[in-house]
Amino acid sequence: MKVYIASDHAGYELKEAIKKQFSNLYEWEDFGTHSTESVDYPDFAHPLAEAVSQDANARAILICGTGNGVAITANKHANVRAALCWNKEIAALARQHNNANVLVMPARFIEQATAFTLVETFFATEFEGGRHERRVQKINL
Ligand code: RB5
Repeated sequence: MKVYIASDHAGYELKEAIKKQFSNLYEWEDFGTHSTESVDYPDFAHPLAEAVSQDANARAILICGTGNGVAITANKHANVRAALCWNKEIAALARQHNNANVLVMPARFIEQATAFTLVETFFATEFEGGRHERRVQKINL
């Protein structure tokens, strides 16, 4: 499965750790950044979100310091449902209830092991549909 991934400088090290940890499971398309040099998160979140917007079945990961900058940016794009997750339950619910297609993580506020658990959970959990389908359909303007 191909997974889009991007971060700013605050998320760079976690992005690289995730790519390495799951290299046998996913084919990564890395939208950057490619170092810890300070950058502006929209420059990386927008291109990733545009790719997700064009591909209904896309799966993606965005990381910045708090997660909020990249989440706010990505959610400007139609069909993008970027969910800020910091524990396993929220990652599961983001899939079950929100059919989230972008896992967003706050690199400065979670341990690396937690991030790995969030990735595993997010990609292993299916959307429940049913009443949640109606709600998700109402998101796009
Ligand atoms: C970078 O210092 C920081 O502002 C960014 O990673 C993110 O937390 C913004 O929302």
